[in-house]
Amino acid sequence: MKRRILFVDDDSNILQGLQRMLRSMRGEWDMDFANSSQDAFAHLAQAPYDVIVSDVKMPGMDGVELLTAVRSQYPQMTRLLLTGQAGEETILKAVGPAHQFLSKPCDADMLKTTISRTCALSAVLEDPTLKELASQMVTIPTLPSLYAELVRTLEDPESTLERISTIVEKDMGMTAKILKLVNSAFFGLPRQISSPSQAISYLGIETLKTLVLTVQVFEELTPQAIAGFSVEALWEHSIQTGEYARRIAQAEGLDNSLIADTLTAGMLHDVGALLLASQLPDQFTAAIELSNTQHISLHVAEQQIMSASHAELGGYLLGLWGLRHPVVEAVAFHHQPKKLESQQFTPLTAVHIANALHTENMHTGQLRDGQGIQEDYIDSLNLTGHLSTWREICNASGL
Ligand SMILES: [Fe+2]
Ligand SMILES: [Fe+2]
Repeated sequence: MKRRILFVDDDSNILQGLQRMLRSMRGEWDMDFANSSQDAFAHLAQAPYDVIVSDVKMPGMDGVELLTAVRSQYPQMTRLLLTGQAGEETILKAVGPAHQFLSKPCDADMLKTTISRTCALSAVLEDPTLKELASQMVTIPTLPSLYAELVRTLEDPESTLERISTIVEKDMGMTAKILKLVNSAFFGLPRQISSPSQAISYLGIETLKTLVLTVQVFEELTPQAIAGFSVEALWEHSIQTGEYARRIAQAEGLDNSLIADTLTAGMLHDVGALLLASQLPDQFTAAIELSNTQHISLHVAEQQIMSASHAELGGYLLGLWGLRHPVVEAVAFHHQPKKLESQQFTPLTAVHIANALHTENMHTGQLRDGQGIQEDYIDSLNLTGHLSTWREICNASGL
């Protein structure tokens, strides 16, 4: 099926340039070009689109406003923002309504890869088997409230650091949990942190947001007791995978906002397992049993029993919650990174390695089929030589 893509830019030279640059994609994409937000709405009213790619600065309604409106009126669409100046992207990433960012000038390959990647992700998340599995759940959890409130506050340009920390501070249980995490070996901070505002100044607002989300997800998705499954063990594994992944991403020189995405994805990579345990305990129990008797990895067993695994299901949930694409794809593909067909080191690469390394470290015997690092994937990125360094930096974390 051809994907429908709408490009929006007030500069007609840029639109013509895009048209020329993407001519070779006409077989795969149906493309339309709009020269203002108003024009974009006229297109949207006529037929549905899969992806919208918009410029930020436009007279009248700008790109951020346009994508904010698209987010509420056409929530299924993938929203990409083309950013102009350096620095602009970082600010927008913290608050903006886009799934993904592209900086201008953007070459044809970059644009094609980014759009293809977002389409590959949508194809997985729109898979009927996965939707069927999700529909069997009594409830699909909504975005945790405190996190949602934080995101809303950050979107308000008037919001101050104080206001943000007050939101966290009013929940004493949350504050205590966050501080415990922040002061654990996990962050290795040189001093004791005693308040959320201090945590923000040491770790940044993005990290605090991730911690709030992780704590809330684990609180709200409480499963009943399931033989062979421990929420505490999953919590430890999640936190440590997050930290491993972050260290690997830092070592590979990802930019700060992708490092933040990596941490989020690492901490939430197995959220699908929590969802299965709390919502579909019978099928999840059967998968655990199958994985034990056949000595196969849990995601392979889940695939056999439910035709989808916790990885895609986790990606599906985070996608519904509107988390950024690098996070969603890292979660959805953490066991099968090759499926993304990306030649670059991304948060997915870091999370895949981190998850496999932590599983390796926790395991005394031989790893099960499908649990280890996919060496041919790392090889395809030409990064096999980096493996020993990644192992070292993760082990040196003392976690
Ligand atoms: Fe997993
Ligand atoms: Fe995992």
